[in-house]
Amino acid sequence: MMHFGPIGASLAAFIGRGNGKALDVGCGEGRISRELTACGFEVTAVDPISPLLRAAIEAQSARNYAVASATELPFDNAQFDLVVAYNLLMNLDDVPSALKEFRRVLRRTGQLIISISHPFVDHGRFTGKEMSSPFVVEGTYFGRQSFNGVEEHDGLRMHFAGWSQPLEAYGIALEEAGLAITSLREPVPDLDDGRNHMAPWLRMPLFRWLKVRPLAL
Ligand SMILES: C[S@@+](CC[C@H](N)C(=O)[O-])C[C@H]1O[C@@H](n2cnc3c(N)ncnc32)[C@H](O)[C@@H]1O
Repeated sequence: MMHFGPIGASLAAFIGRGNGKALDVGCGEGRISRELTACGFEVTAVDPISPLLRAAIEAQSARNYAVASATELPFDNAQFDLVVAYNLLMNLDDVPSALKEFRRVLRRTGQLIISISHPFVDHGRFTGKEMSSPFVVEGTYFGRQSFNGVEEHDGLRMHFAGWSQPLEAYGIALEEAGLAITSLREPVPDLDDGRNHMAPWLRMPLFRWLKVRPLAL
């Protein structure tokens, strides 16, 4: 299980330049908020974990901040031109409610950007560290399964917990929220800064990036 996100030129290009109001939901320490700010947006950053939000504030990641959950956003309807949920949906118990909430706060002409880890990441593993190591899938890809694990790299220990579900489940939740996918990318990791341990993920889909727009009611 690996949820490190590739970030950099390819994400900035996918987001594109803008000067509207953006909402970064599940902002963590604020790296995506900073990316959105660099793209020109006026950013509001929210996360339910106060120490993470404090770190985002200390790094001056956004213009506005709120401690809030994705399923209960403290904003009026149709406030944002862009909502971003970057590596968030796998953490949520209730993805359908969050997507409906994102749609509620989006302007009619707005868009939602989502990054999720590919569900295969939760069900399989490389059998070795070599680039050509086989990727073995255990159990079933289908169904909704919880995950709980720890990743350690370069002395940094991270705890991951959440849900793995097939891509179809996200597709159905988007349809039911009245949201339509307009772009899909499968970014590969950037191996800069000693991230060579990610090299096998040049062969398998690690992340899915989606652009999504509200359908006319
Ligand atoms: C894997 S981190 C991603 C952080 C950030 N988006 C990034 O890519 O660096 C997931 C984030 O989602 C937040 N989170 C967890 N449950 C949430 C919820 N119900 N609503 C909003 N954010 C939530 C966590 O606190 C954490 O900051």
